[in-house]
Amino acid sequence: MSQLALLGGTKMKRKPFPSWPQYDETERRALNEVLESRLWWRTEGTKTLEFERAFARYHGAKHGIAVTNGTAAIEVVMAALNIGAGDEVIVPDSTFVATASAVLFAGAMPVMVDVLPETDCIDPALAEAAITPRTKAIIAVHLGGHPADLDRLSELSARRAIPLIEDCAHALSSEWRGRRVGTFGIAGTFSFQASKLMTAGEGGAIIINDDELERLARSVHDCGRMPGQWFYSHYIYGSNYRLSEWQGAVLNAQLGRLDEQTARRHRNALLLDKLLAEIDGVTPQKLDPRCTRNGHYAYIFHFEPKVFAGVPAEKLMKALEAEGIPCEPGYPPVHSLDLFTSGAYRQRLAGEQRTREHSFLKQSYPNAQRAFSEAIWIPQPALLGDEEDMGEIAAAVRKLQGNAKELA
Ligand SMILES: Cc1ncc(COP(=O)(O)O)c(C=O)c1O
Repeated sequence: MSQLALLGGTKMKRKPFPSWPQYDETERRALNEVLESRLWWRTEGTKTLEFERAFARYHGAKHGIAVTNGTAAIEVVMAALNIGAGDEVIVPDSTFVATASAVLFAGAMPVMVDVLPETDCIDPALAEAAITPRTKAIIAVHLGGHPADLDRLSELSARRAIPLIEDCAHALSSEWRGRRVGTFGIAGTFSFQASKLMTAGEGGAIIINDDELERLARSVHDCGRMPGQWFYSHYIYGSNYRLSEWQGAVLNAQLGRLDEQTARRHRNALLLDKLLAEIDGVTPQKLDPRCTRNGHYAYIFHFEPKVFAGVPAEKLMKALEAEGIPCEPGYPPVHSLDLFTSGAYRQRLAGEQRTREHSFLKQSYPNAQRAFSEAIWIPQPALLGDEEDMGEIAAAVRKLQGNAKELA
């Protein structure tokens, strides 16, 4: 086994991965059109509206609303559902902070529950056990692109009459039983931040089927206005979450490329599943057979520390990076973030909820912990490579495992 690049050996990766973001003349032309039209503002422009319609159509959803980012998308849904002080919203412990902070922004309490060990997505049984009379919604996160168990979550949502929101920030174009994620719940939220599956630098979207919820969400995203009404009439609480025409124009172009890119990412991930499963101590995130397509914001694999000589994830990732393979840690469990452990989150709460003891501070979340400390993420642009690239990723992981003792 050759020496690790981190320790002076030759790096495994020879040719560079595809660069990200990707663009061509379509983006350039669309941006130029916006420039020359002088319609740079969503309100009087056409590009963002066009994108909203195309995005909704892509998902078979009735409505699409473009917003400033993926955090804002959740905040708008919270406000449209009238979630606020005294309420609770169930979220997975393994996610980016935004899933929980958007709940806090509404003045409600995010209630973290552990995830399933195979997919790192919310455990539906634990979500049900966390329901109280205060529960106003459940947010499922399709981590890394793999859908949460939408059969069980949809059934739970219907049986307990608690709205399900899908945080699809990672899962654009993922499918569950052949249907794109985002319309299984009452609303699906998306992010177009730079690392996401399509991007305008920043950006977000909400898809909704329910007409009344869409009316409210659209109003919240535009200062409480109602479509067709006088500009200075403001009917409900709202803010300015509008997406600019520049971003609408870029996203229209990006959407046109998405299916081909998704097919490539999914195909490469299946190959990686096969190659990595052959390495002792490595378990790829499980692909549930009901997930008919994984959009793959990231390729996630778990490693067994004892097979990797007890080397911590951080050091393994340093060694993998040195081999030329981009990689990232999973999310630190939400309940363990300073925001929560320091008590700062209470500043967003009111009344009895602000001072009450919250059980999550004492609870353990073993699977979310493992999804952080025993997992490595390979970001999505690497999956746009070819078979040779996948072979090199697998060879680098194998090299890491074979040399783990020297790293220890
Ligand atoms: C799961 C999840 N939800 C929400 C967001 C928030 O999206 P944005 O960064 O566009 O606000 C992110 C962003 O990384 C995310 O990963």
